[in-house]
Amino acid sequence: MLRRLAPPEMQPADFAFSAENAEWAKKEIAKYPPGRQASAVISLLWRGQEQEGWVTHPMIESIAGMLSMPFIRVLEVATFYTMFNLVPVGTHLVQVCTTSPCWLAGSDAVVEACKKHIHPHPHTVSADGKFSWMEVECLGACVNAPMLQIGKDFYEDLDGPVTEKLLEDLRAGRPIKPGPQNARHSSEPAGGATTLTEASLYDGSMIGRQNRIGNTDAEGKAPTQAASDREAPAQKPPGAAT
Ligand code: FES
Repeated sequence: MLRRLAPPEMQPADFAFSAENAEWAKKEIAKYPPGRQASAVISLLWRGQEQEGWVTHPMIESIAGMLSMPFIRVLEVATFYTMFNLVPVGTHLVQVCTTSPCWLAGSDAVVEACKKHIHPHPHTVSADGKFSWMEVECLGACVNAPMLQIGKDFYEDLDGPVTEKLLEDLRAGRPIKPGPQNARHSSEPAGGATTLTEASLYDGSMIGRQNRIGNTDAEGKAPTQAASDREAPAQKPPGAAT
């Protein structure tokens, strides 16, 4: 996908880090030795995006000035990494994974739900300003496909109606629960766990069990013959034939 800055008419007139972020940026830049301040470029862009929601032209100019870098070098970084938003985003940025495992598990329905409840087109802020959505590559939660990310949380095991409800709840300010949206607790088989199912593994009743069957903790931790001694060649008695 071609990644370009938003057109000039969308760009704000200027950019400045908040007082708190400016203080943070100073410390971040100071982590690097003289002449290596450019190494802070990603962290400054990220903090700028956290502040504004997206990376703007004036933000890139400002960061280039802070790091004594040419504008084009900062622009290259911002346009290379897809984690940087180059157009305005809604309060909630919905990132829908559409890579093969999620697609095979039904991400088309998740995309349709976003089109219906947010906007027919990705990278476009909804009329109420609360949402925008985009397609992304694998987010590493394929075992709970299909899934999407909102803010820093994953929402997994989705389908069309579940995604619609998720978005409706979020829009209405109702709490939503990250993680699997079906009966799964994490990434166990969809029909329920098939291994490590013994309740005592999790209820604390196993604690200290080793001691009760005779092998105390102290015995377990007692030093044994060092491996280097065990594996050393046997010493021959003096005068023995070689
Ligand atoms: S393919 Fe969607 S999380 Fe990996």
